[in-house]
Amino acid sequence: MVVCDSERRLKIGEGSLVFKKSIQKLLHRYGYELKKIDISSNKNFSSKKGRDLSLTPPPIEPIWPLPRRSDGLFSDEEICREFAKYDLWHYAYKFEGGVSFSAHHNNPGSLTDVPERPLQRFKHFMPYLIESQDGSLKGKRVLDIACNSGFWSIQCALLGAEVVGFDARAELIEQSNLIKSIIGINNVNFKLLDFWEMSPQSLDGTFDVVLNLGILYHLPNPLEALKLTKLMARKTILLDTGVYPSKDSVIKLKWEEPTDIRAANSAGIVAYPSKNGIDLMLRHINFEDWFEVPMRTSDMPKDYLEHRRASWLIKV
Ligand SMILES: C[S@@+](CC[C@H](N)C(=O)[O-])C[C@H]1O[C@@H](n2cnc3c(N)ncnc32)[C@H](O)[C@@H]1O
Repeated sequence: MVVCDSERRLKIGEGSLVFKKSIQKLLHRYGYELKKIDISSNKNFSSKKGRDLSLTPPPIEPIWPLPRRSDGLFSDEEICREFAKYDLWHYAYKFEGGVSFSAHHNNPGSLTDVPERPLQRFKHFMPYLIESQDGSLKGKRVLDIACNSGFWSIQCALLGAEVVGFDARAELIEQSNLIKSIIGINNVNFKLLDFWEMSPQSLDGTFDVVLNLGILYHLPNPLEALKLTKLMARKTILLDTGVYPSKDSVIKLKWEEPTDIRAANSAGIVAYPSKNGIDLMLRHINFEDWFEVPMRTSDMPKDYLEHRRASWLIKV
């Protein structure tokens, strides 16, 4: 059998089709077949049980509205009072029983204030992440980098993971702990920590799954940030980031002020890599495999639809 990969394969334009056919015939006469194999980056990306993750995983809905503890410790009025203590909230929240709150930012944006945004993001990348863990996060140790008020940490904890979330803003850790208390779960812990202080020492070891969501483009050095993320992960990283829309492998630098709870924690340069720039960095860091999570629906935030944001599932 002759195996020919898609890169080394002869260019098959209209003119060369006849040539391909005659080669096929010739090989066939001598007992060989021409077979194309896929060399795209996700060729080895299968879960422990051998599932091919490039195939579409089953849809998974976020746990929403959020459940509430059964002992009645937080009444609707108490929840409202606690939420009112903070001017800014990055996500819109909704709890069982109908209590809900909208997002509030210092610089409101039609993009980030949309209440559906985290739910759409969940439906976009979480099915792939869960599939990579053989269908369940139960018992997995999950790290949520830059957890904000804990939306992703809480979802993972409700799905049975043991979660640590950290953020550089103290009021966001308070918000995260408030939501944890309203729900009444114990399998998630929140910590005040700067990204660059993240280490197996500062976070009690490494994690099965590391969520690097919405943080890369608030940092000055994406290559170092991805290397540090790798240090924390035993198996899988989910990366979700704003990207610079270019076909080239580039990094666009911008200046960012810490004017909002969704922004960098201190003033300075932040970096937006292009998608190809991300791919090149993942290759440089020598990850085992990765693929960009495909968009399966148009029910997605505008920045994803316009290719200004994307997500990758990375095998460490
Ligand atoms: C756009 S929000 C993303 C929140 C969440 N990870 C998500 O994807 O929905 C960016 C978060 O990064 C946090 N952050 C910014 N700079 C940080 C740093 N140096 N270390 C840790 N967290 C940081 C912010 O406080 C904010 O919560």
